[in-house]
Amino acid sequence: MDAKRIRRDFVVLGKEIGGKLPVYLDSACQTLRPRQVTEAISEYYDSYPSCAGRSVHKFATEVSLRCDTVRAKAAEFFGAESPSEIAFTKNTTEGLNTVIFGLGLRKGDEVVATDYEHNSVHVPLVHLANTAGVKYKVARSAPEGTFDLDAFERLMSKKVRLVAICLTSNVTGYTLPAREVVSIAHSYGAEVLFDAAQAAPSMRIDVMKLGVDYLAASAHKMCGPSGLGVFYCKGEKANQLRPLMFGGHGVTDTQPGSFKLMPPPERFETGLQNYSGIVGMGAALDYLSSIGMDEIREHEARLNRRMTKALMGLPGIRILDPGDPNLRAGIFSFNLHGLTAHDVAMILDNSKNIMLRSGMHCCHTYFHARRMDGCARASAYIYNTEQDIDFFTESVTELRDKFGNAR
Ligand code: ALA
Repeated sequence: MDAKRIRRDFVVLGKEIGGKLPVYLDSACQTLRPRQVTEAISEYYDSYPSCAGRSVHKFATEVSLRCDTVRAKAAEFFGAESPSEIAFTKNTTEGLNTVIFGLGLRKGDEVVATDYEHNSVHVPLVHLANTAGVKYKVARSAPEGTFDLDAFERLMSKKVRLVAICLTSNVTGYTLPAREVVSIAHSYGAEVLFDAAQAAPSMRIDVMKLGVDYLAASAHKMCGPSGLGVFYCKGEKANQLRPLMFGGHGVTDTQPGSFKLMPPPERFETGLQNYSGIVGMGAALDYLSSIGMDEIREHEARLNRRMTKALMGLPGIRILDPGDPNLRAGIFSFNLHGLTAHDVAMILDNSKNIMLRSGMHCCHTYFHARRMDGCARASAYIYNTEQDIDFFTESVTELRDKFGNAR
């Protein structure tokens, strides 16, 4: 993979800020977008700025056809059997909420998640527990920060209706053993929902091979626009889900006292959609596919091995588990003794134009359980080079020497 060539597609990486180019290492928050994506978005507004599935004129027909094409691309990208298994959402959170609240779980039902869930799974599950009396059980991680299959299986029983679980952690980059989780859950009759927000940008996902029932992902972590996500729902399962919202386009007919829902997936797409976003996501999927998800995964891991080799074991630096960089894809989360995570991120931004994310990364329970205030997170992607990584590790070492307390 030629990151130097790829970075030429990302206009923002060529723009100096205060006389220096940016080093963007916050792709786990949002990736940058190549010009192919921004051009596709502009083309929508400049050439066919209409909506799908309503008017019959040429602009509208073009949008309908484009949406169908992107739906088919997304189905292929995630290995779905049919485009009708893919709904457009505004983000991963919407897809996750659609399943968590749409299944009609009740008192006596149980749900299982990890102890490092993003709030987009954790908060709806807490809400479900508090309002519907559903039991929310948490599978504790192994001490080295990996998924503990035995601990998970001990929580399973015929009462568990749903395993709602983070495929790849946005804090540590760790990916759980997906096939094993699905197979254990199914053996107890439970369905599985993957939060794939962090997995989708950095690995090949084949929903049919995994056998997963539901999956949600966001375009903004995959070189696509913000405000657009996809939600996969296996086969006929969509019919058992109550949509989150009701209204225009989600129905085929209404009477004074009744309505008839559209078949899936459109019943989950109520109201006017983010058409420029859908078109932009199509361009992003083409872009990632042209590079290859396996190549992307290996590039991320190579950069992470370089970061880890340079910084692991230095006094005063703590890298979040698991230690093996090959288990963390592009994510390198760390703390410097004597500095808060926000200090680290602000100083690196102000002095070097190195952009990281700091804080609890929407995973408060992960940090509370480990008695930590948060961490700084460097996340590398397709446009990052070895030079970026060396500049980052040298800058972190300098920061540690100057301001840290290297005990
Ligand atoms: N979940 C996103 C992150 O990890 C926003 O930064």
